[in-house]
Amino acid sequence: MSLLEARDIETCYGASQVLFGMSFDVKAGEVVTLLGRNGMGKSTLVKSVTGLLAPRRGTVRLAGVDLAGRPPHHVARAGIGLVPEGRRVFPNLSVRENLVATAANRHAQPQPWTLERIYGLFPRLRERERNLACNLSGGEQQMLAIGRALMTNPRLLILDEATEGLAPLIRREIWNCLAQLKAAGHAMVVIDKNIGPLLRLADRHFIVAKGRTMWSGTSAQLRAEPALLHTYVGL
Ligand SMILES: Nc1ncnc2c1ncn2[C@@H]1O[C@H](COP(=O)(O)OP(=O)(O)O)[C@@H](O)[C@H]1O
Ligand SMILES: [Mg+2]
Repeated sequence: MSLLEARDIETCYGASQVLFGMSFDVKAGEVVTLLGRNGMGKSTLVKSVTGLLAPRRGTVRLAGVDLAGRPPHHVARAGIGLVPEGRRVFPNLSVRENLVATAANRHAQPQPWTLERIYGLFPRLRERERNLACNLSGGEQQMLAIGRALMTNPRLLILDEATEGLAPLIRREIWNCLAQLKAAGHAMVVIDKNIGPLLRLADRHFIVAKGRTMWSGTSAQLRAEPALLHTYVGL
């Protein structure tokens, strides 16, 4: 059974339909990407599975539990941790307050994330512990957004535009962090524009175009078909 299974998702913004039957799944311990040019529906799909938008049709199941149309706090409690596009940390809370604000271990993970473990993963956050989030750099805010999501001890972590707008050195730090999380068995959905790191990190990929899932396969299969990346991702 898949950890997350989204089937035939159709989502609209008002009268304008954007998703026309999107499907993807993530198995336990697996890293999956959503690939596609801007405006193809990746973020809308993420919003549709995390409760920020209610799909008008389709099913979302996490470990067999139906989540379609449930509000974001319900989806978070069920075990999906989101690092949204644009990060969205609480600007007027300190780093430490951001990390503890939504912390929980609802699924009784045997080795739950703690402040110490987050600071071990991102030593820079310890140095900035008492700073307000609005005073952090973009890279530090992304580390904080990842740390905050991990502190909910999610079963599945979703990162929408994992390294967008970040300097190369910080990007590398984020990719290293994601590789560590994968090695520790965390299931993830990662969206990003850097195909090299994605091919190395992920097990499987879903290519989306115009609100539909056009192709899915492993990193090896995708490497063998460069025309797919050229056509659908613009590489
Ligand atoms: N809040 C919104 N209201 C109306 N249309 C939107 C909104 N957000 C996104 N869209 C449209 O939905 C489509 C998919 O966008 P999005 O899911 O953000 O794509 P991606 O994440 O792949 O870049 C685009 O055509 C975009 O213009
Ligand atoms: Mg997007």
